[in-house]
Formats: sequence, C-alpha cells, structure tokens
Amino acid sequence: MPADTPSVIVKGIGAYVPARVVTNDELSKTVETSDEWIRTRSGIGERRFAAPDETTSDLAVKAAQAAMADAGVSAAEIDLIIVATMSPDMPFPSTACIVQGKLGAGCLAAFDITAACSGFLYALDAGSRMLQSGNYRNALIIGAEKMTSILDWDDRATCVLFGDGAGAVVLSAGGEPGTGVIDSLLRADGERHELLQMPAGGSARPASAATVANHDHFLKMNGKEIFKVAVRDMGKVAMDLLEKCGVSPEEVACFIPHQANIRIIEAMVARMGVPMDKFLINIDRYGNTSAASIPIALEEARRTGKVKSGDYVLMAAFGAGLTWAASLIKLS
Ligand SMILES: CC(C)(COP(=O)(O)OP(=O)(O)OC[C@H]1O[C@@H](n2cnc3c(N)ncnc32)[C@H](O)[C@@H]1OP(=O)(O)O)[C@@H](O)C(=O)NCCC(=O)NCCS
Repeated sequence: MPADTPSVIVKGIGAYVPARVVTNDELSKTVETSDEWIRTRSGIGERRFAAPDETTSDLAVKAAQAAMADAGVSAAEIDLIIVATMSPDMPFPSTACIVQGKLGAGCLAAFDITAACSGFLYALDAGSRMLQSGNYRNALIIGAEKMTSILDWDDRATCVLFGDGAGAVVLSAGGEPGTGVIDSLLRADGERHELLQMPAGGSARPASAATVANHDHFLKMNGKEIFKVAVRDMGKVAMDLLEKCGVSPEEVACFIPHQANIRIIEAMVARMGVPMDKFLINIDRYGNTSAASIPIALEEARRTGKVKSGDYVLMAAFGAGLTWAASLIKLS
C-alpha cells in the first residue's frame, strides 16, 4: 500500500460461539465415524452447534456486540456492515442488512461477501479500503456461519469437519500511520469451483423435489484435492504478502491460519519455516467455522495474550471458489 494511504485501525475484536459443545464421541452416535478417525485426519476434538432457532445473523449480532463493546463504539456510530458468510439466513436480503436491523445500527451501507472460508479476509480488505475513501468512519467486519444448516449428515467425510460460530472486528478510519490493516492479497480460481460447493438452490439448479431428494442443498467437497491446494496456496499467499509489505516472518508475533485441518496447518508451517508456537490453533475446539474461523481465532489470540498492542498478526485462509487470501494487521 502506498505510504500516504490513510490508516484504518482495528479498534475492537469480538467473538461468539454457541453454547452447545458436540464432541466426536457424541457425533459418532449418529454418524458412522470415530473420535480416533476425526482427530487423526483433521485435529478436531469437538465443535459448537447453534440452537435450532439460532440463525447466522443471531451469531453475527453477538460477535458484533462484543467487538463494539471492546472498541467503545455504539451501534449508532457504525456506518458500514460487511458480513462474510456461506450460510446466510436466506439467499436475500443480505445477512448484513438483517444484522443492521437487529443491532439498530445507523448504517450507510450493509452487504454480504461470499468468499467462503476466505470471506473474512475479503471483507476486511473491502471494508478497510471503503474506510480509506473517507465516506465511512466505523465499519463492522463480521464472519458468521451456521454451518450445521448446510451439512449433509449422511456424508461422513464432510459433516464431522465443521462447526458454528462468529467473529467480528470494528475498523475505524484514522490512527497512527503504519498501524491497523497494513495490506491484503486476495486470490481466486473459479475454474476449480466444483471442488467445494452447494450445487442447488441458485439459478443453475433451482430448488425442486429432485434437488432436495438428492441432498443437493448441502455442502459437497472433494477433500483430497482441496487439501493439496490449501497446503500450496495458503502458505504462498502469506509469504507473498509479507514480502510485499517488507515484513519478515520473524517480525510477526502471531500467524492465524484458517482452521480447516491441523495437517494442512502443519504442512503450511513446514513450508513457511516458521515455528509452530507462533501459530494460533483452536481447530481442536471449534472445527472449521468457515468465514468465522479467523476472527474467532483472532479474538482468542488477543484475549489469551498471544498478541498485544503493537504486534504484527498475519492471517491466511483458503476456501470455496476457490479463493485464498492473506492479511497483515498491526494491533493498536
Ligand atoms: C476430508 C479429509 C479430512 C479426509 O482425509 P483423507 O485422509 O483424505 O481421507 P480419505 O478421503 O482418503 O478417506 C479415507 C477413508 O476414511 C473414510 N472416511 C471418510 N470420512 C470418515 C469419517 N468421518 N469417519 C470414518 N471414516 C471416514 C473414507 O470413506 C475412506 O474410506 P475407504 O478408504 O474405505 O474408502 C481431508 O481430505 C481434508 O481435510 N481435506 C481438506 C478439506 C478442507 O479443508 N475443507 C475445507 C476447505 S475450507
């Protein structure tokens, strides 16, 4: 980013996960799987399930309220809301507009971003650049997912991997130069969109009795191919961003990778040559919460003291699209 670009600071961080903990053992009572298989293949020990009447926007609102309290910013002072989600309350209107209504925020703009597990980093980049325009003062950037609403419980290769939750940051225009959102790299390759998708429910295959019978309104994934892409591209985009910013891996206090699979993270760590203890790992407790994964981990990193004011944090993600991305922030 050019040196004279106005700063956008991370003023507040918040997260919310539903109360219900579902262990691998509990899951194996209804799905043909085992704690041993899930742990060794993915690193997941348990995940959270939202209540039946709890929607993605409900999770988003709770994370947003925590971030606003942390920032000391009221709903009336928020003038931009971006929600990254692949499990919106409904195809339209946007979950961001529903969140705005529930918060009573005096917004100028609210919209969703669909970039799957990379969505929060896409939203962070879009939001920070909109703040730099001078048209907005405070933005809520939210990653929120009720993944359990789009999982096929008859597909054991996918349903054991995901969980529900939300995380949010308040971004504010201004602040010390060289702090806040430093820069991001966003990437996409739509030629491989079939590797991870929900095939029906859109214009290509509108909902019908046949699509419902065929379980086409659920997440479908080619796990093996995604695995290879993730290992290669997530580490590379992270290193490319550090090089672009002129920041060395040693200067980064904490790396926050998308929490999809511990083996993917371990392979990324090996490729990057960064010590594992610099990585925030919480996949064992939450599984893959898609767009919520990175802000939930960021909140944990700050709450547990793994990162503090003045630290560089590098976040990297990959997901359906395919999409992948990295963002570098410096906390104030
Ligand atoms: C999904 C994933 C964990 C599977 O791991 P894997 O080592 O590739 O496992 P495989 O797909 O080869 O399956 C191995 C066996 O386990 C079985 N299996 C699949 N899911 C299972 C489950 N939940 N419990 C028990 N066995 C299972 C398969 O049927 C297969 O059996 P077979 O050998 O008899 O055919 C792994 O590919 C992965 O994590 N991929 C990336 C997915 C991802 O990150 N997606 C999110 C993107 S944001």
